[in-house]
Amino acid sequence: MGQALTTLPRRGFGQTSRSDLWWLKPLLVFLGLSAFIVYSTWAALQNAHFEYQGYLSPMYSPLFFSPVGVESHHAWFEALPGWWPVWLPLFPAFLILWAPGGFRFTCYYYRGAYYKSFWGSPVSCSVGKAQKGYGGEKRFPLLLQNLHRYFLYFALIFIVVLAHDVYKGMFFTDAAGNTEFGIGVGTLVLALNVVLLSGYTFGCHSLRHLVGGRLNVLSNKPTRHKAWKGVTWCNVRHQLFAWLSLFWVGFTDFYVRMCSMGVWTDLRIF
Ligand code: FES
Repeated sequence: MGQALTTLPRRGFGQTSRSDLWWLKPLLVFLGLSAFIVYSTWAALQNAHFEYQGYLSPMYSPLFFSPVGVESHHAWFEALPGWWPVWLPLFPAFLILWAPGGFRFTCYYYRGAYYKSFWGSPVSCSVGKAQKGYGGEKRFPLLLQNLHRYFLYFALIFIVVLAHDVYKGMFFTDAAGNTEFGIGVGTLVLALNVVLLSGYTFGCHSLRHLVGGRLNVLSNKPTRHKAWKGVTWCNVRHQLFAWLSLFWVGFTDFYVRMCSMGVWTDLRIF
């Protein structure tokens, strides 16, 4: 006996029979991501107050070249290469932010979050979506989301660079120009940034596949099994680490900025 097919009428954008606060989460995601994009763009355009003592803002790290008019001991190279066009202003943050930005933009968690909150595709379950069809991620430009696994490699390098920044944040110069070892509140702020970013990066779905993928049985590979379990621990908390690390990157830049501007005093623990 043939089966009768029922076609449900298509809901208009935002139409739903749900009575809960389904709109709240996408709204919070929209506000949170928008605030970070606006702040990080503003901070990257400042070219100032991105360092204080041994601290370097994660939005400027690694600092390949000092911005024009600033001499930074954090800079990897003393001068711009000869081929740099003189008419092109240098914003060191933009030289590096494409990597962590691309990593977040193509992250499986963030994709789900901003497809809902920015594109309304759909805004939430059982809520009418903005677009008519769904083309998937098989065509340009969403095809580029598949670059995520490559952004992961850059993100892992950034963890090492930022961890080294924590080490450099343990050295302070006094008024006489002497350098001494110490721990300041800023050192802890930088360190927590690395912890949270590691929690986010090590929970990446691509890393989980890299560590334990393509194997049907992991129990006979103890090292990979342990690594896979560690990545899985972070992976099940991926959303939490995604937001905590995003907030803390912004706060770390803000902390260094406030200290550099003399608005906040960086307390020395010892
Ligand atoms: S899936 Fe989110 S960082 Fe890779």
